[in-house]
Amino acid sequence: MNGHYSIAIDGPSGAGKSSLAQRCAKAFGILYVDTGAIYRTVGLAAYRRGIDRKDERAIMEMLPELQIGMRYDDSGEQRMYLNGADVSAEIRLPEISICASDVSSLPGVRAFLLEMQRQLARENSVIMDGRDIGTVVLPDADLKIFLTASAAARAERRLKQLAEKGVSADYEEVLRDIRYRDEQDSGRAAAPLKAAEDAVTMDTTQIDFDGSFALLCRIIEERLGVRPEKEGV
Ligand code: DC
Repeated sequence: MNGHYSIAIDGPSGAGKSSLAQRCAKAFGILYVDTGAIYRTVGLAAYRRGIDRKDERAIMEMLPELQIGMRYDDSGEQRMYLNGADVSAEIRLPEISICASDVSSLPGVRAFLLEMQRQLARENSVIMDGRDIGTVVLPDADLKIFLTASAAARAERRLKQLAEKGVSADYEEVLRDIRYRDEQDSGRAAAPLKAAEDAVTMDTTQIDFDGSFALLCRIIEERLGVRPEKEGV
């Protein structure tokens, strides 16, 4: 492949987009862009200021006052900054997930963040994950993947991830959050979550992480004619 290429991965919360995209980025030596983290940073700012997250006017007034920064650390991890402070851990809190979903349903917020995302793809070969990457952000992406799994499978995986971090959570509560976000992210008028017409759908309900990674690598190799730079990452 000559020049930059772009891979879009969209799908519902908890489908494993970021883990998979991160591993692929390492294997193929390209940049991983987690666009959800950008919406989470806006959600966190609204939360901290106590702004009603559905009040578009109030949120739009806040946006120009925010300094949203994105940097990659030495291990290639994407870190998010809000007004100069690293908020990468805080934006992962469950209450901020809900705030992120709320603010992301506002068309003004989406328009504000669009150029930042496109710029990254102009300057780098990327694998970018989100909800509207293949449909809105990068409609000309070289490869579009729609990654999905049943809500129950996603809730179980999330619970396992939290347990690994020493956080105990209630299955029903995790499932309820996933369903809330599914409904809101798919049902909103502005750039709703949906598969692009030319996306390859990968349903991983029955496939484990290694299996999903192997499948994605195969699709990338077949569609783009590029091979991983590093095996076994
Ligand atoms: O991928 P994530 O769970 O970190 O995303 C957090 C929220 O941001 C999610 O509920 C929907 C929203 N989002 C979006 O609307 N568009 C994107 N491209 C990425 C995320």
